Amino acid sequence: MKNGAPSYTQREVITTQIYPSADQACTYVADAITDLVSERNAAGQPTVLGLATGSTPVRLYRELIRRCQAGLSFQRVITFNLDEYYGLSGDHPESYRRFMQDQLFDHIDILPENTHVPDGLAAKDEVFESCSDYEAAMREAGGLDIQILGIGRTGHIGFNEPGSGPESRTRLVTLDSLTRRDAARDFLGEENVPRHAITMGVGTILDARQIFLLAWGEAKARVIAESVEAPPSESIPASFLQGHPNCVFCVDEAAASHLTRLRYPWLVGPVDWTETMTRKAVVWLAQKSNKPLLRLTDEDYTENAMADLLTEKGSAYDLNIRIFNTTQHTITGWPGGKPDADDSYRPERRIPFPKRSLVLSSEPTDDVFCMGGVLHRLANQKHQLTVAYLTSGNLAVPDTDVRRSIELIIELGERLDDVAEVHFARKVEQQLDAKGQFGEDSSDLRRLKGLIRRGEARSSARLLGIDPAQLRFLDLPFYETGRYRRFQITKADVAAMVTLLNEIRPHQIFATGHGHDPLSVPALSFEVLQIALRACAGADWLKDCWIWLYRGPGVEWEIHEMDMAVPLSPDELDFKIKGIYQHQTQRSQSPGGSKQDANSWNLASALNRATAQAYDALGLAEYEAIEGFKRFRS
Ligand code: F6R
Repeated sequence: MKNGAPSYTQREVITTQIYPSADQACTYVADAITDLVSERNAAGQPTVLGLATGSTPVRLYRELIRRCQAGLSFQRVITFNLDEYYGLSGDHPESYRRFMQDQLFDHIDILPENTHVPDGLAAKDEVFESCSDYEAAMREAGGLDIQILGIGRTGHIGFNEPGSGPESRTRLVTLDSLTRRDAARDFLGEENVPRHAITMGVGTILDARQIFLLAWGEAKARVIAESVEAPPSESIPASFLQGHPNCVFCVDEAAASHLTRLRYPWLVGPVDWTETMTRKAVVWLAQKSNKPLLRLTDEDYTENAMADLLTEKGSAYDLNIRIFNTTQHTITGWPGGKPDADDSYRPERRIPFPKRSLVLSSEPTDDVFCMGGVLHRLANQKHQLTVAYLTSGNLAVPDTDVRRSIELIIELGERLDDVAEVHFARKVEQQLDAKGQFGEDSSDLRRLKGLIRRGEARSSARLLGIDPAQLRFLDLPFYETGRYRRFQITKADVAAMVTLLNEIRPHQIFATGHGHDPLSVPALSFEVLQIALRACAGADWLKDCWIWLYRGPGVEWEIHEMDMAVPLSPDELDFKIKGIYQHQTQRSQSPGGSKQDANSWNLASALNRATAQAYDALGLAEYEAIEGFKRFRS
């Protein structure tokens, strides 16, 4: 033991540094780059960097831009990017060359001829040569000093999908279907995502002298744990980094959450058996043993490295009952609190009643997708409900949908002789024709797309018994950039949130985004909320305001994490599904704009049913479906 903290035996074969935030991890990596570049600059020598694209390195690049503005010169830096989509030219808006120009190269003093990205347009019969030339250029530059990596949910590094061996070199590859689904949002549909890419090989990456792999958000947690703990294998190409002598994984807490030392700490070392840890371990034990909580035996505990828990907390009998009761007490049909009831063991307090409940939806759909049942109940139980849509969601509206609306406006305008309306619609139609499939939307187009989503949100709300007058559309400015990954919070975002909070003065807030990829819409929306709450410190309403987190589209809290579990009857689940179906433009999109299966439209009900089944399997009542929430204490 060191300073009273338990000393864990780590299972990680690769050094894994966990940071409270992605920004702190980026500072660490930026420091390493700065040190090397400064040293080489002073000696008049080049620094060779291997770079990645995607959401993950964006904050690192912003930090490097800041450092360049503060005097760090990149004139002697030579870069090689990991990969490029095959078939895309460098000026295609979704090409990785374009990404690098936008996110880094155009903002630092690097010489254009020193930046290298594989040629996505090499002719099929010249690809092999083009890839060999790329490797030769790297060797000629002296080899990579530092390689920056992200990681895909398939375990890919670069575009080395499962099946890629440790010896692989730069080559043309076929993208995994999960990778293409993850990119579907950027390309507005999976069918538009290229099928092939050129990527450095695993062997090429392993040649770098130093490697930093970065990962943020819970969506990466499983693959991070497998990469650093499981034996190296082609099924997780990132696991081959275990063979590199100088590789560090820099991850945030959410991406680290599946490491054994955090997820099952009792398996690797002594544990401080707090109430939270005990609940986590006992629920895990029941699920692992396939038994209801009340049927766990002393042997189950001792055979699963939890003998010390028994010694410290009593018999299996006592522990089982305690955790059964705690789990039982999370269940309530009254998400706003039950008036006139004893609330000693209820997740929400009974007074005040009715409550001013504020539901924050980072994009239209998050609310109904994750908590449609609760919305229905809050409305039915006569709380003063406000649903605020934080961003317009226009980026996720396909052009085909907006074209349909434009045609409708033109036709209506012509029938009613409304010259102004027809003129506006024709102008937007021209903008739509001019921008092409992947071009950026004009502000008129964005406005129209945003309005389409408002309409969908209204009809969804109506179905759930919510008067559209209870809806707010904030259209936070951080989102209005015309493209994903450019988002940056400004004072205007925070000011809009502060105004909303001070006007509603909520007793309870439902929000999402905690633990998501920090560049994602839910995570940025949550960051805006947190900054706004700090700005409201001292406000009377804040003293009595509880915050409930819903986890986000496509995922659900684990049972031990839930502080409130709201059952849905078959009819309520039906309402919720009908509510979701009102978001017609989103049928071919990933719900909520987050990275998940594009065809997962029915995922919401499947998740809610799975939660109910998990409660049932633990020996609690059997419900059709359950929506889960975790109380957030800042
Ligand atoms: C990007 C690359 C990929 C990404 C990975 C993670 O050049 O090679 O391996 O690093 O797909 O993508 P994000 O960061 O968008 O989650």
